Amino acid sequence: MADSTLPALRWAEPPDGPVLVLLDQTRLPAEEAELACTDVPGLVAAIQSLVVRGAPLLGIAGAYGVALAAARGYDVTEAARQLAEARPTAVNLAWGVERALAAYRSAGGDGPAAARAALAEARALHRQDAEDSERMAAAGLGLLGELLPGGGYRLLTHCNTGALISGAYGTAFGVVRAAHLAGRLRRLWVDETRPLLQGARLTAYEAARDDMPYAVLADGAAGSLFAAGEVDAVLIGADRIAADGAVANKIGSYPLAVLARHHGVPFIVVAPVSTVDLATPDGAAIRIEHRPGHEVTEVRGVQVAPVGARAYNPAFDVTPPELVTAIVTERGVVSPVDHGNLAEMCAGPRGD
Ligand code: MRU
Repeated sequence: MADSTLPALRWAEPPDGPVLVLLDQTRLPAEEAELACTDVPGLVAAIQSLVVRGAPLLGIAGAYGVALAAARGYDVTEAARQLAEARPTAVNLAWGVERALAAYRSAGGDGPAAARAALAEARALHRQDAEDSERMAAAGLGLLGELLPGGGYRLLTHCNTGALISGAYGTAFGVVRAAHLAGRLRRLWVDETRPLLQGARLTAYEAARDDMPYAVLADGAAGSLFAAGEVDAVLIGADRIAADGAVANKIGSYPLAVLARHHGVPFIVVAPVSTVDLATPDGAAIRIEHRPGHEVTEVRGVQVAPVGARAYNPAFDVTPPELVTAIVTERGVVSPVDHGNLAEMCAGPRGD
């Protein structure tokens, strides 16, 4: 099997100054092109246009963004503010920015030593994400073994949660990959994930690199797949998990949770603890990003709706905790999903 790690981002130090190099996810799978960010406005634009995306990777990118501002002598406090506000729903972004900013300030808040401290923190977050993704994969595979004795899993996933959003193998897709490596994956159903097709473009790209038995479906086809008894479990990631266990994830996740409950299929969320936001009490308090209407009225730049058509384009929806079978983190499995169990897991050891 091909090595499925992908350099979703990397720090480089050419003679004309440090840069954060991003694999441009808007151009995949047709082109594996990189985009070099030399300043914070460029990185903010890359985050907003989804060149770099997915909750864990946004945290890592945010931390490197602070390091970039520090290394290039920009106003680091202002850079941190702009980065943290680039997208509102994934809590990891502000978390990563805050971690690097705190390291910068603890090292004096000015000059090369503080810049080095911010970069060291970004690198540490990057490494930690890689370790966490291995732990989530192991815990998720164990959970699948308990819920679905026998193997031969037919798993459905939504959006993209693999190496493209991680320092290693990702969250939900990392569990799928572990099942595949263990010889237990019979079929990966990949929701195309309208409007920006993170499933059809990115998850299918990763599944193909890993030689998985996968098939892409239109989001609206999921119901007929459940009705035909072709789905054993749903695995998704998360952008923010509120204190009560409500899960914000890519638009289209909530309908899958409703379908899963109706058909008695486990609905499993895989996310690092950094995605849990105990300061947000419940799903209603999660701020949902709304994106430009042209993403809905056009397909890959081609207008498909009548000119002037209005659109409804939330980037995420919220699944209430009672529809979530389990949340898998690097610290283990939370089930049933409720405030007490989630808070206990967050307070517990990292699982080393
Ligand atoms: O808008 P995106 O592509 O950044 O949305 C990403 C998702 O919704 C992912 O499912 C989520 O960030 C989890 S990634 C582990």
